[in-house]
Amino acid sequence: MNNIILIGFMGCGKTTVGKNIAQRLDIPFVDMDQEIQEKSNMTIKEIFEKHGEAYFRDLETAFLKSFNKSNHVLSTGGGIVTRAENIDIIKKLGTVVFLHASFEQLMKNLEKDNTRPLLQGDNYQEKARELLNQREGIYLGTADLIVQTTGKTVSEITDEILSFVVLN
Ligand code: S3P
Repeated sequence: MNNIILIGFMGCGKTTVGKNIAQRLDIPFVDMDQEIQEKSNMTIKEIFEKHGEAYFRDLETAFLKSFNKSNHVLSTGGGIVTRAENIDIIKKLGTVVFLHASFEQLMKNLEKDNTRPLLQGDNYQEKARELLNQREGIYLGTADLIVQTTGKTVSEITDEILSFVVLN
């Protein structure tokens, strides 16, 4: 299928960039986290608190399995690459784009965030570093296109993605 799927660490801008791409191409935008929250009538934070991370990961996989659309921009949750099964699905869904931001930029974007259960507490930077170390290689290995986002505007990032998608 010919969707554009955005992957990357929490705070890298998947939702903002995804909306911008969708607007430019005049196609629908879908945010996985948003869909999961609406379907379960709970915030991500509440899902983690009530049911735990494994349950949330099951919801992510179930969402991906049920996603049968074409010509959509899909923004995924940062942990989507933690299951091999999810990687197989997103690769089949379309062009996978990794938004690669510097650690400093990610920390700046996540500084005041209280919506991401995996980064709560005083040592959120250490937690983020550990998760990023586990995941970065997988993001890189999964993506059809890697875009360095630090220092670029949303519009510049979109331009880069669209020139790749159009050329392919
Ligand atoms: C997570 C990322 C979040 C959300 C959840 C878990 C992760 O999505 O799915 O808090 O494991 O990296 P964003 O990447 O949109 O913040």
